[in-house]
Amino acid sequence: MSKNILVVGSLNADLVVKSPRFPQPGETISGDDLQIIPGGKGANQAVAAAKLGAQVAMIGRVGSDSFASFLVENLNANQVDTSHVLKTDSATGTAIIVVDAHGQNSIVLSPGANGKVSPADVDPASFLTSNLLLLQLEIPTPTVLHAAQQARANGLTVILNPAPAKPLPAELLAHVDILIPNESELSLLTGLPVTDVASAEVAAKEILKQGVKTVIVTLGSKGALLVTNTQAKQVDTYKVDVVDTTAAGDAFIGGFASSLLNGRSLEDSIRYGCACGALATTKFGAQPSLPTKEEVEKFIT
Ligand code: RIB
Repeated sequence: MSKNILVVGSLNADLVVKSPRFPQPGETISGDDLQIIPGGKGANQAVAAAKLGAQVAMIGRVGSDSFASFLVENLNANQVDTSHVLKTDSATGTAIIVVDAHGQNSIVLSPGANGKVSPADVDPASFLTSNLLLLQLEIPTPTVLHAAQQARANGLTVILNPAPAKPLPAELLAHVDILIPNESELSLLTGLPVTDVASAEVAAKEILKQGVKTVIVTLGSKGALLVTNTQAKQVDTYKVDVVDTTAAGDAFIGGFASSLLNGRSLEDSIRYGCACGALATTKFGAQPSLPTKEEVEKFIT
């Protein structure tokens, strides 16, 4: 049987403007032409893994506007199974994104249909054909918890990317095998300062006490930190010329998950995820920037 990834999460139309810098409060500045790009953390992670050769299915919701078919068609074009992406009578999720001259971004989300993804949308049969579940926090937390519980009951590996950061019920963390936060998300989850590798390790160990088996802290240009009950190891990333960091974390997670499913170790899968994340920063936009398997292999050899 082939190894499958299930994503229960968000789809967004990213409305992106590249600008020399971020505006100050009350300030108006001019940027480049508006670009409308397929995004959303859930859909990005689904496409990231699918472009690397994984079999991926997505559960989520789009609205009843023109963005809906734009997003679903892009998932289909990337071989993601969209038979459980449902329609709802509201706007499709959107993300208003400004990318500055350094490739950094600032994002405001309008959840739209993502806010309507309910536990009832999560088809129990999906877990029978999947090995690994990818979750993020752009859909309601009760739905995330329900999916994690179903996954645990069916023996799937549960990976949670706690983004955008918000406080989480202890019950959810208890159902997570691998938590992948960045530094600010880890700080919010633990209430501890996370400013460097040492403080990230201290905070990650607090998360382990809550039932998570593995914490992988993404550190941007410093790579990632792997923390389990028996080890803490920093894995370096690759140096590239950054165009746009949007979806770099999603590329890392899709790459990490597909590598893990292929039987590689945690450390090797983090290294593979770092290559995917680095490559994603060299192109503009979310889903168009996600690398293919061939691109990653060429990059790392
Ligand atoms: O992680 C990047 C994504 O965050 C963007 O595609 C945007 O949709 C927001 O969800």
